[in-house]
Amino acid sequence: MHQKGGVISDMGKKSEITTIGLLTSGGDGPGMNAAIRAVVRSAIDKGLKVKGILRGYAGLLKEEIIDMDHRSVSNIIDRGGTILKTARSKEFGTDAGVKKAAAILRKHKIDCLIVIGGDGSYRGAQILFKDHGFPTIGLPGTIDNDLNGTDETIGCHTAVNTALDAIDKIRDTAHSMERIFVIEVMGNRSGYIAIEVGLGAGAENVIVPERKFDCNDLLKRLKEGNRKGKVSWMVVVAEGAGKAEDIAKKITEITKLETRFVVLGHVQRGGTPTGRDRIIATRLGAAAVECALKGQFGKAVGISADEINIIDLKDATYKEFRHIDQYQRLITQLT
Ligand code: F6P
Repeated sequence: MHQKGGVISDMGKKSEITTIGLLTSGGDGPGMNAAIRAVVRSAIDKGLKVKGILRGYAGLLKEEIIDMDHRSVSNIIDRGGTILKTARSKEFGTDAGVKKAAAILRKHKIDCLIVIGGDGSYRGAQILFKDHGFPTIGLPGTIDNDLNGTDETIGCHTAVNTALDAIDKIRDTAHSMERIFVIEVMGNRSGYIAIEVGLGAGAENVIVPERKFDCNDLLKRLKEGNRKGKVSWMVVVAEGAGKAEDIAKKITEITKLETRFVVLGHVQRGGTPTGRDRIIATRLGAAAVECALKGQFGKAVGISADEINIIDLKDATYKEFRHIDQYQRLITQLT
């Protein structure tokens, strides 16, 4: 028998939540499945029902809604991607689209929507909450690690490790054939992945969108390094800062040094989530359900200094990585 999970919230109001809706939206990231599992099982443990919404906001608008139980999330903690599938929706980006989504959620008797996603997904959840009074909670799921209120987002740890694994292999050939490699990593408008990967891979340069890039300075350093006998060189470029192909061409044109480029692309989004990603996903999933039970809506859950941190969704969107300058200095110093 299903029981109501209503409790007195820490804000003194009673939250009468019976059914949670859950979706993943935007770019998938390793660890999203672990978060889905934690939400579903924590909610059931507290006497709530869970409805899974397939293909993010796009699937919500098509009413692709399924009942989830304990068994629907068996054996997924170690799987990359998202069993709920994900998408980007143009229609949900319109006023009429969000209004329709709120009506569908109410029609299916969903009391609160937990959204696992990044910046765009959070913006959608905030509009549902603010403009349509629909209770939403955000759970940070993106490899980009560019959200406020959390030190890490689900997927970023695995993505950095995947990129490092690839770059370690590129280093072998770069060193053997005495070449310069320009490697493009993902991150949308954030340089987080690039700068972490650059430091972890021992790259000589990292180009990020948050800082002005001086190509002449890079070329000067390359030439100087070459004169001193440096034969291989790794440049990591964040996709938001430029194209690896263009930078590689320019380097060859001006220095006449042999240069290759590699775009790591969607490889970084897949694979088995690291232990860290599974652990934060599990803690955040359980925390999101706690929020729902306490009636804390229009909020995003995060992890800050290893503690669960809850902030307003409206403040949880894009943030710049804090340590860019410090990492850049270290990278230059160690070249
Ligand atoms: O937000 C995650 C992300 O992988 C970004 O790093 C990248 O810019 C974008 O998604 C790629 O999106 P798509 O898979 O739609 O090409």
